[in-house]
Amino acid sequence: MQTYSLPQDNSDSVLLLQLTDTHLFADATGSLLGVATKDSFHAVLDEVAAQLRPFDAIIATGDISQDHTPASYQRFADGIGRWVQPCFWLPGNHDYQPSMKSVLPSPQIKACDQVLAGEHWQVILLDSQVVGVPHGELSQAQLQMLDQALAAYPDRHALVLLHHHPLAAGSRWLDQHQLKNHQAFWQVVSAYPQVKAVLCGHIHQELDVLHQGVRVLATPSTCIQFKPDSNDFALDQSNPGWRWLSLQANGEIDTKVERVRQRSFSPQFDAAGY
Ligand SMILES: [Fe+2]
Repeated sequence: MQTYSLPQDNSDSVLLLQLTDTHLFADATGSLLGVATKDSFHAVLDEVAAQLRPFDAIIATGDISQDHTPASYQRFADGIGRWVQPCFWLPGNHDYQPSMKSVLPSPQIKACDQVLAGEHWQVILLDSQVVGVPHGELSQAQLQMLDQALAAYPDRHALVLLHHHPLAAGSRWLDQHQLKNHQAFWQVVSAYPQVKAVLCGHIHQELDVLHQGVRVLATPSTCIQFKPDSNDFALDQSNPGWRWLSLQANGEIDTKVERVRQRSFSPQFDAAGY
């Protein structure tokens, strides 16, 4: 297990910025269903920066790239390079891990499985990618790693990150692409009451539900949005977004999704799939 210690500043909480599903291309004009993903990514970064909100780290929950190129990952690294805080990332179904690793070592991006965040929290990063298919699955090694990480720090609250949603989110076409072995995942989680939340990307929409006493959160993409509660593929009109999370010493999480306000990004609403 690779562990990173994230020092805590003087405040009692750890503040995280989540960016997800950036779907970047090597080509600066590359677009996904009509949205230029570099432009929408930078629109997000600009509005995050304009908020002048202090934070401790960036977490990126997969689908960083759309075209598998090292240059697309470098584009991500360049974008977040306006800040000095570390970034922890994990792969999604669209990622190509050899290219992802090509930007490492990076002064900012850390590849690790576990972040000891301040005094009271740990963040666990899982790899749910099954190469070549859109659904997710956790290998035995990943499930074991999750179990070990939780067993090692019973006194730390835990936030678990993975790309795929570990429960049905209400859209049939997306739910067939969820984490397949979600039962095995929840079996591990249920043994550890310190798990406060599971946070994912993949579904390109906001989600905040309670499952087995654990909060399950998902976050808008920085590019296209999928329409909630839709049985067939459908895009949503809402703008690109991001999420703030504040991990409190008492185990509570204050969190808020925000969306780009200064510009609007309209995808091709007649697209039949992605
Ligand atoms: Fe995605």
